[in-house]
Parts: sequence; structure tokens; C-alpha cells
Amino acid sequence: MNLRIVTCWPPKLLLAASAGWAQDDGDLATAVTTHREMVVTANPLATAAGAHILKIGGTAVDAMVAVQTVLGLVEPQSTGIGGGAFIVYYDAKHQQTITLDAREKAPAAATEDRFVNAGGFTNAWQSGLSVGVPGVPRMMEHMHAKYGRLPWQRLFVPAKVMAQRGFALTERTSSQVAGLLAANPSCADGERLFFRDPVAFEYFVNTDDCTAKPAGTRMINKPYANTLKALARWGADAFYHGPIAEDIAAAVQGDLNIPGDMTTDDLANYQVVEREPVCMYYRGHRVCGMGPPSSGGLAVGQILGLMENRPDLMGSDPLDVDTVHLFTQAGRLAFADRNQYVGDSDFVSVPVAGMLDEGYLADRAALITETDMGPADPGIPPGVVGPSGPHNAAKLSGTSHVSIVDRYGNALSMTTTVESSFGNGVMVRGFLLNNELTDFSFAPTDNQGNPVANRVQPNKRPRSSMSPTLVFDADGKVELVTGSPGGSRIIGYTAQSIVNVIDFGLDPQEAINVPHYMNRNGRTDIEEPIPGITLEYDAQALADALEAKGHNVGIIAQTSGLSIIQVVESEYHKKGKKNGKGRKHHHHRLLIGGADKRRDGTVGGR
Ligand code: GLY
Repeated sequence: MNLRIVTCWPPKLLLAASAGWAQDDGDLATAVTTHREMVVTANPLATAAGAHILKIGGTAVDAMVAVQTVLGLVEPQSTGIGGGAFIVYYDAKHQQTITLDAREKAPAAATEDRFVNAGGFTNAWQSGLSVGVPGVPRMMEHMHAKYGRLPWQRLFVPAKVMAQRGFALTERTSSQVAGLLAANPSCADGERLFFRDPVAFEYFVNTDDCTAKPAGTRMINKPYANTLKALARWGADAFYHGPIAEDIAAAVQGDLNIPGDMTTDDLANYQVVEREPVCMYYRGHRVCGMGPPSSGGLAVGQILGLMENRPDLMGSDPLDVDTVHLFTQAGRLAFADRNQYVGDSDFVSVPVAGMLDEGYLADRAALITETDMGPADPGIPPGVVGPSGPHNAAKLSGTSHVSIVDRYGNALSMTTTVESSFGNGVMVRGFLLNNELTDFSFAPTDNQGNPVANRVQPNKRPRSSMSPTLVFDADGKVELVTGSPGGSRIIGYTAQSIVNVIDFGLDPQEAINVPHYMNRNGRTDIEEPIPGITLEYDAQALADALEAKGHNVGIIAQTSGLSIIQVVESEYHKKGKKNGKGRKHHHHRLLIGGADKRRDGTVGGR
């Protein structure tokens, strides 16, 4: 047999292995390989549902609908049909990459000063003001209509059955409930801020002693099963019109902390938007991500582009102080631009092409030296229109990432969210409402009175950090599907996963196991290692080496949830008879999956 790897990572793979970067720690998770299809999610039940749909002939989009509806049940702190999502999708039949913006929208009545007197982030989060019009139901319907293969109703069965029969509450959900309960000044009705909604309180909490229901509790959610039945039967209109929409608007307007202003018209008027992907080249690989209102595609692209411009500063392995230094400096520059320029491009002018312009990135990369540059100022990318003020917020995270490749060659990267843990904490018909609007800048102008690109405006979508990404090889074939939850750290997690695979030849699981580092134009954060989950390393030694370069370093826990699939295509000829007749040409596809054990990530497929 003559095996020729057609799509393969650069020769650095060998360099990396010889430098000791083949991870041999027996305790760490290792990559899963399949040949036909693969799904990676943050929860084993969601992964199983997706794998089942793929197995019975479903497309990546069919599997996504099953995964999304199960995640809304079993990982409700992160995602659900009351939230929003971004998708980057490769349609193999048409050899086309599209992105879908299913971001939540501000109500038509929203004004710029929405959060100015809301009493700070936590109070705004736990209120009706923070709820954006959800995008997930319309997203599922839109994607299925274009790219689905199995009957729509079939895709709701796994989540519906689990909601009716019950599932075991995870340790993660239980401990996050406990964390929020502990932040309440009192647990009495009328005095609770977190779980102030009596329905969510009863579902997640032992009401007699105000403790979180423990891991393993059998959770049954009949209202959710009924909502799914309505969606399965009537489509997304069942959510955006009629009794479900009326209940959402009533819950927002009747919020026990601060009432919001979402109306049934806001729900009826919601639309998802197909947008051009934001693409750039990194070391010959085409990296495509989500454009505005997400800052993800631009910031990930800038980090990679800035790094490529400085080979002189690149280290020899992922935890080499030089690699970490270069990555963090690129992060500083990327976050300075992101904070200044990115908002919903339907409302503000975002210099998308200019931010990834090769000349601009080369100029910006020249600002990187061997020592920490300190707070970076934004640059002036080609295409900037008028002055604007920055929005620097570092966000909490209630988000999940799903990566899927199907047997037809389609690839789907989706990051999906209710924003902070358990969204705004209010449950309607078995699902939680989001608090996505706290992703807007609370201040409409900066100190000089310049309008902030990410200020609140009616019907606008708040800026996101979600970075669903597809990477293509020189022949245009999908070679990597990646993305993560983690608030604004998503950008660093995703960019680092790409560097780990492309530059250092790590497989997806090895890439995930490497401790994280980043700088969001403030402190340099490096990850405290987690035994058995991340690669062991001397974090203090790395911090000392970075401090010698002028960094202010924090060694902290991280909450990534990377879901990565690598696609390796190979072609070979199998010899037949001696005269060469019968020589057969074979095409072989290997899918290599990595899931983040910092969460409950799992890989499924065949
Ligand atoms: N709510 C998280 C994000 O959109 O970045």
C-alpha cells in the first residue's frame, strides 16, 4: 500500500514531536478518531444525541438541532432556545462557507441609556432589561430548511424524551446553582436576586433548605418537552408568535427585579441573518470565522496575522516563554482594536477588511518588542469612519461550543449562549431567558463624548466574542473545526487552539490539554494546571520568565470548553495484479476529535 497524506500539518509536526511535545502523560485525555462523522459537545448526552442523528444519515445541521435542544435541557446554564448563537458552516455540495448570525436583538424600545442607572452589572444581569430577543429557534429552522436532510420533527425526539423521562443533573450545573445561591443576600421570597423566579427556583433548588439540587438528581422538565413539541410541530413560529411569545414578553415585562420592555412584536419581527465569513490566511491555511456583531473572527484573525508577522519572536513549543510573550502581545493589539471598533455593523461602521489588511497587520506587528508593551492603543485600520469610544468589558461566560463533521463532508462550528450563567435566571415554559444585552456597553459614550460602537440602540445586536471557526487547507478542504465558550477569553482559547495545531503539530486533544494563556490588553493570565486535565507545567517558572519581560502575570483557573475536529484526508493506491491492472485509487478520511475536560466535553461518531 502506498500511503500519501494529502492534507497534513507542516513539517513542524516532526519538529514538535522531537522537541518533546508528543504528550505522553498517561492521565490526560487522548484524541478520538473516526472515519465517517464526528460530533464534539460539552455534554455526553448532547454528544450522544448528535452522534445518533449522524448515524441515521443526518447532516451536520440535523445533528446540531438535536444537540442544541439537548444542551438546552442538560446544560441550561450555558445555552438554550431562549438564547442566541453564531454558526460558521461549510456546505460541501456547493463548496461554500456561510455564517449565520442568530444573535439576540435589543427590543425596539431600547434606548442608549438602558443600563446607565441599572445599578451595576449584576443587577442588570438579573433583570428584564438584559433579555434580548432569542435567536436559536429561528436559527435551527433556517439552517434545517437549507441544509437538513432528516425530517424536522425527528430532530426533537432525543431532547423531548430526556425532558419527559428525566436525566441526571451534572456536577457542573449543580455547583453553578450553588455558586449563585451563595451570592444572594437572603434566600427568602422577594429577597433573592439569583433564582428570584419561583419556577427556576423550584426546578434547580431544594426549596426547603435553599441548597442546590445535588449532582445526579433526576431532572424532569415537562414544560420544556411541551415547548419542543410545539416547535417540532409548528416550526419556529410557535416560539415567535402566540402563547410562547406572549409568555416570554410577560416574563420580561413582569421581572421581579427590574421589568424589561420586550414586546410580542419584537419577537414576531426577529430574523436571523446570513453574513459573509471573515477570512484570513495563517501560514497558508484559510481561517474563516464570524464577523460583526461578533468580534471573534476579527480578533482571532488579528492575533494569528500579528504572530505570523513576527517569526523572529516565535518560540519553539506552546509553553516556551517566547511563544507566550508573542501570543499575549498579539492579544493586546487585537483587543485594543476590537474594543474600539467592533459593534453591530448594521448600525455602526466596522472596518472589517482594514482590521485584517496585510499591510496594517505588518505595521501593528512592528510594535511588538521583546518586552511587554503595556496597554496597547487601538490602531487606525484602513476604512475607519469617524471617532469612536472603546468598550473594554471582560465578560462572564454561559456559553457552549459544538463542532460537527458529517459523512457528506459538511462541517459546522457553532458557539451558542445565554450569556452569563443561567442567563437572566427566569424560566419560561421550561427554558431560561438570556441576559445577552449586558454584552452591550453600559456607557453610550466615552469620556470625550465619542459614541461607543457597542452602545445600546433599538433592534441592535450586542457585540460578542464568540469565535466559531473553520480552517481550510490550500486546496480549500476543511481541516479544522474549532471554537470555545469563555466570555471574551473565547478569542484567546480559539486562537491558541489553531496555533497549537498548525504551528506545533498537536492533535486536537493535545491542543486542548495545553494550559491557556492570554492578554486581553490588561494583565497576562496563565492557566493554573489541573492534574489529569491539563498538561503539567511549572506555571510559576513561566510567570517569572514573563515578569522578566515586563509582564504583570496572574496564574488563574480557566473555563474553556474547546470542541475541536481535525480532518485529515489521504489518498492511496492499492496494487492489484502484478501487471498493474486492478490498481485501485482510494480516498480515506480520518476525523480526529478533542473535547475539553475542563468541562464535560465528549467526542462521538463513527
Ligand atoms: N455572551 C458571550 C459572547 O457573546 O461573547
